[in-house]
Amino acid sequence: MWGFLRFGRARSVAQETIAKSIPTIPSTRRCFSLGAAKMAGLRDPNTLSNYDAWRTKHTTANLKVDFEDKCLRGSVILELESQTDKASNEIILDSSYLAVDSVTLNSSPSAWEIKDRTECYGSPVHVAVPEGVAKGEIVKLEISLATTHKCTALQWLTAAQTSNQKAPFMFSQCQAIHARSLFPCQDTPDVKSTYDFNITSPYVVVASGVPLPTETEGLEGEKLYKFEQKVPIPSYLFALASGDIATAPIGKRSVVATGPNELKESQWELEADMDKFMDVAEKIVFPYQWGEYNVLVLPPSFPYGGMENPIFTFATPTIISGDRQNVDVIAHELSHSWSGNLVTSCSWEHFWLNEGWTTYLERRIQAAVHGNSAMFDFSAIIGWKALEESVEGHGKDHEFTKLLISHMGIDPDDAFSTVPYEKGFHFIYYLDRLVGRENFDKFIPFYFGKWATKSLDSYEFKATFLEFFGAPGYADLKEKIAGIDWEARFYNPGLPPKPDFDTSLVDVCYELARKWKQPGFSPSPSDISSWAGNQVLVFLNEVQGFEEPLTVEQTQAMGKAYGLAEGKNVELKEGYYQIAMRAKDASVYQGVAELLGQVGRMKFVRPLFRSLNKVDRDLALKTLERNRDFYHPICRQMVEKDLGVAGA
Ligand code: BES
Ligand code: ZN
Repeated sequence: MWGFLRFGRARSVAQETIAKSIPTIPSTRRCFSLGAAKMAGLRDPNTLSNYDAWRTKHTTANLKVDFEDKCLRGSVILELESQTDKASNEIILDSSYLAVDSVTLNSSPSAWEIKDRTECYGSPVHVAVPEGVAKGEIVKLEISLATTHKCTALQWLTAAQTSNQKAPFMFSQCQAIHARSLFPCQDTPDVKSTYDFNITSPYVVVASGVPLPTETEGLEGEKLYKFEQKVPIPSYLFALASGDIATAPIGKRSVVATGPNELKESQWELEADMDKFMDVAEKIVFPYQWGEYNVLVLPPSFPYGGMENPIFTFATPTIISGDRQNVDVIAHELSHSWSGNLVTSCSWEHFWLNEGWTTYLERRIQAAVHGNSAMFDFSAIIGWKALEESVEGHGKDHEFTKLLISHMGIDPDDAFSTVPYEKGFHFIYYLDRLVGRENFDKFIPFYFGKWATKSLDSYEFKATFLEFFGAPGYADLKEKIAGIDWEARFYNPGLPPKPDFDTSLVDVCYELARKWKQPGFSPSPSDISSWAGNQVLVFLNEVQGFEEPLTVEQTQAMGKAYGLAEGKNVELKEGYYQIAMRAKDASVYQGVAELLGQVGRMKFVRPLFRSLNKVDRDLALKTLERNRDFYHPICRQMVEKDLGVAGA
């Protein structure tokens, strides 16, 4: 019953960000998914597990962080509930590049086998359950394992690669489908499990669970760090980090954790906004359900801006820019505590339910914190521009520009782009305007309350919306609601209808950009000195979009007057370097190469590499080679794909 799926080649593009990121899928890299899950009638095509027959209810991870061998080793115990009456004689789990040692079923050795690897979904582990078990009964599967050097979820840094050079460091990144390279599991957002973490390490450990007292007995030079996660979470939210980590308070229920040298500046960056974000978010949705909300600021190779791991959001150090201008990432990750972590899209096809809702909540938080509704539109305008570029890059009919993206045979990392964020945002925002803010504000807690601790698809979202607004109290909205073209919103590729934005915060940025079109314009630092970082970004985006590139003289004058290459704000540096590379201003190439050795956040790394590759491929390849060990495996893989080099 295995079928092979072929699909078209995604167009490759020059200018993108993570949020604008565009996949290139060379034929050698296509995932020939067997689509087993889909064929079995499962909602998630990106898992090889038979989660229709069994569901993980609880997971215990007993893992030792082995810095010498750069691996995690130990065991996981999965408590799986039978969904059928003695019908299933095997449990199939996802795994990827794992060394599995032994498997026991209810404490007895059992027959098991790792089947051949399928790009890109891994090698399913089949465990025999000879007699099957009654529906509702729970079996305990204990698996001894170690991760391998091919693990895609972990990055290991030597002490020399850390800022204070005192201790090695490791961290995980499981979203979207990398948890299977940590331990065998049902690696699908459609299954949620509670967790116990028992992690042994010589260094401080943080995890996506609530910390319990640490134990030291019988452990030489190591400690046992324990955590529990009582709210059921999908596998992609399993997270660990270990190293020389110190903490400082940033809010009522929040600490920032990071290297001791970076602690003070990280605390300063976040302490002014943390509780404000939390207070507003709780008012918009309902009280925070997870206990603590902390932020771990990672080393510069962290491949994302932020990752919403429960209890500890993992964040890039590029948000510690010394000006509190990049804390919107925290408003975003905090919002995931409701959209994504509590209420979860059941597969990567419905990912917009996570990111679209989160982008909407993030913008609501920003507007409320600043007491300025123009902030909402300001951020939405930046997002719209990114969406336009993404749609243009993919081609306006491309599958990846739909709200619901078919993921059969697709690596979710390849389908990742700004589309689910911004198209998702625009769908939610459209519904908000359609029913009116006052009504929509009542729907928000209803929706999150109804689906809390569960996973859902877009149709269940639709049904929930229709259920809520079908109530007699909303009879006056009947016609409007009947007019929603759900199918078009879900499946039309390309840009959604564009709303009117309040442009009051961006008009000055456009105005300055216009001046740069005039011959002989002479810039001065005062052009932008009073602006927020995001305003400078809007200006740079505008200039990037000019039909004609600037001249080398102009880009040099811009860099000098605005000090863009010197600042700490990587977002602005990247924007400026893009403009200069487009102008073929060779004087910045070395600066670009240097920056590529300092940050590993894909939002910057991938577009910088793509542009550098265009103007100086040799330097791009050398830069990749030089920084191979610096980048996270996911980032390295994506850059290799983007540049079309071996190893990809
Ligand atoms: N959950 C995402 C990051 C992610 C998505 C990791 C898909 C792996 C696969 C996170 O919440 C996110 O969106 N981060 C953004 C932050 C931004 C939109 C404020 C980022 O990393 O740039
Ligand atoms: Zn997000």
